Amino acid sequence: MSIDISTQAAKSIKHTRLFIDGQFVDALDGAEFDSINPSTGEVITKVSEAKEADVDRAVAAARRAFDSGPWRTMTPAKRAAALWRLGDLLLENAKELATIETLDQGKPYWLAEVSDIPSAAGLFHYMSGWATKIEGNTIPISAPGNYHSYTRREAIGVVGLIVPWNFPLVITAWKVAPALAAGNTVVLKPAEQTPLSALALAELALEAGIPPGVLNVVPGFGPTAGAALTAHPDVDKVSFTGSTATGRRIMQAAQGNLKKLTLELGGKSANIIFPDANLEKAIAGSKDGIFFNAGQACAAGSRLYVHEDIFDEFVGGLKTMAEGIKVGDGFDPTSEIGPLASLEHFERVSGYLSTGVAEGAKAITGGVRVGDRGYFVAPTIFTDAAPDSTIIQEEIFGPVVVATKFRDTDEVVALANDTRFGLAAGIWSNDVSTVHNVAARLRAGTVWANCYGVFDPALPFGGYKESGWGREMGHEVLNYFTEVKTVIVSVDE
Ligand code: NAI
Ligand code: MG
Repeated sequence: MSIDISTQAAKSIKHTRLFIDGQFVDALDGAEFDSINPSTGEVITKVSEAKEADVDRAVAAARRAFDSGPWRTMTPAKRAAALWRLGDLLLENAKELATIETLDQGKPYWLAEVSDIPSAAGLFHYMSGWATKIEGNTIPISAPGNYHSYTRREAIGVVGLIVPWNFPLVITAWKVAPALAAGNTVVLKPAEQTPLSALALAELALEAGIPPGVLNVVPGFGPTAGAALTAHPDVDKVSFTGSTATGRRIMQAAQGNLKKLTLELGGKSANIIFPDANLEKAIAGSKDGIFFNAGQACAAGSRLYVHEDIFDEFVGGLKTMAEGIKVGDGFDPTSEIGPLASLEHFERVSGYLSTGVAEGAKAITGGVRVGDRGYFVAPTIFTDAAPDSTIIQEEIFGPVVVATKFRDTDEVVALANDTRFGLAAGIWSNDVSTVHNVAARLRAGTVWANCYGVFDPALPFGGYKESGWGREMGHEVLNYFTEVKTVIVSVDE
């Protein structure tokens, strides 16, 4: 059944070539790579592969569009209107975009339609409102003389945006919407595993009135297209989401012209269940906190700390829920989670499952592949893992959670903070003082209490420690897509 649906769905794909200066074009050397459906392992289509020379062309187009082009000089109201229109177009094309996302990434179609596409649209709608509200200050100063001093917030210039494969269109929107709202021009490199929705976005951007050269899309691989973009002397800023290891490489590549960097990297987020929590709500929320998107979420609640008094009841409840999750092809409407997004990632996660067992942890459910086709992994719960074990310290990025007992608040805060990451955390307690005290003590960029994984375009998101630099979303993100200019004018009295 799924093969027929996939073949039919592949007809939704209109764009497979690079998008440079408002046109879909082949790579200069004609190179192409396969885009694969992870539910079946089959090739969906071939996609043009950008290399350094193609990235050069895209950067040159973005440079022209910034320096002499229409975007930076367009009135903020017109920029706002184009971004709002793009949000509308995403919603109008939600079925087609959700189909592309399911084919390429594997996630359930119904979920892409009700969650990914509206979330991406929401970013454009929210950020369009900021385009007319990027303001400086008038600053009274005490230097001898008579001055009128003020600040301007100006676009940084050409920005390179590098996106991963877990939420292809959503994370693209997290970056493209604020970059454009602030008046920058963009060269976007989608992940090689999921290049298709960014190309569909490019066409809609043109239709929305975003002029040629303002948004360019260069599908390709990290070490070639990605590295060329991050090292490019004409790129002023890079915003990246992905692994901490690649984040470090990007820092090095960016040093040539001291690019500004936003890095949204890995996580190993603690989710803490206090004994006074509403257990039913905590179990359901913790289940989604780890298994949503098959655990391929940077903020996934992958370390569960449960008070010893409720450990057995909580973990038993979570196990029942995990075993009830329908894992399957994204086009099957009963699927709750899809496959891992690529064979390489499936092998990486499978490796962690073996390591967990080898290091002495117990998989009380899951720990195995589902089916014999596609890259499906069963929701997995480990217990009895040592605090310094691999599955507690490293990001697995799959449907795998490790549950650990704790006795008191000081102990659990220390355990939760015993990680090189600091992206997010969860707290479940009906005691308001526990919630606020623990929220303040956790070293993480986002803390959810009595909920998990709630995102909104108005809320800043980003990491402490090795989870990254800077913030995305909220008005906060605009600080990372603008420069501050201070102007001091001597005024004769
Ligand atoms: P990755 O960080 O290597 O890839 C993410 C993006 O970076 C892709 O677009 C890729 O082409 C690009 N990239 C790779 N090398 C580059 C380079 N040298 N210069 C510029 N761009 C480069 O992540 P990968 O290998 O796909 O996944 C590895 C692990 O990373 C996952 O298992 C997961 O733990 C983590 N990850 C975290 C994400 C998050 O949301 N924070 C998203 C994706 C992966
Ligand atoms: Mg794919």
